[in-house]
Amino acid sequence: MIHTPLTKILVFDSGLGGLTILQALQKKLPSCEYVYASDNEAFPYGTKSAEFLITRVQRVLQVLIDKTQPHIIVVACNTASTLVLPHIRRHFAIPIVGVVPAIKPAAQQSTTKVIGLLGTPGTVARGYTKGLIEEFAKDCKVISVGSAELVILAEEALRGFTPTQAVLHSLLKPLFDAPQLDTIVLACTHFPLIKKNLSDASPREVNWIDSSEAIARRVSALLDNQALAKIGPQGNGSTAIFTAQNTDTNSLSDVLNSFSLARTEYIQV
Ligand code: DGL
Repeated sequence: MIHTPLTKILVFDSGLGGLTILQALQKKLPSCEYVYASDNEAFPYGTKSAEFLITRVQRVLQVLIDKTQPHIIVVACNTASTLVLPHIRRHFAIPIVGVVPAIKPAAQQSTTKVIGLLGTPGTVARGYTKGLIEEFAKDCKVISVGSAELVILAEEALRGFTPTQAVLHSLLKPLFDAPQLDTIVLACTHFPLIKKNLSDASPREVNWIDSSEAIARRVSALLDNQALAKIGPQGNGSTAIFTAQNTDTNSLSDVLNSFSLARTEYIQV
């Protein structure tokens, strides 16, 4: 009997934001085995320098690849993907899918052609992001807000501390000050974790767009094209890996279980 190995997908982020990508992948590709890796030792990425992030992400991925031997890597972090993809694609032979701001669908779906871009300070400042706007949203007015605070609020929300409407309202204000704005790109994988809170704190209804379903479709297509095994016996189940062990990671087991991450491991980078 031919025994097809289960496809192993490594989903990587600075923190827990990449869980929003993991969830979309699990829904689209339920028979894959997942490794969810958080570089919590270096979290947050959004305020770190480009030099630091390029070296750091490459180093962490090397350790993760050596340990887990994935078939495919998803860099579930806009801050990292808008910077490090060319470097890591040159360095590693494994297929790598990055998560970048969903500016193209936002520009296509906006009726008023006024869209908001909500990311980390790093992501909104990147040349790569400006290139996406130039290429896909030339006919739009794009209002960018880079917030490191929102990343922390999203992490805290996962731990049961819901952000107040007043705080979210003031973070969103520069976007809603534009009366025509009808679409907001959640350009950080952390933000869909608090999408309902963001929407509740908004003064009017807008279309919120994130990259998760598009990424799941992209990974699925890549697996088909590369004839990587997609169907097989259930493996060992999915695993969460952190770069630092502390009281916080010890307390996350319920959260991780809710994303079917039954085991937690730690690596030293
Ligand atoms: N989740 C990440 C992103 O999509 C980064 C958050 C951070 O570490 O600042 O950009």
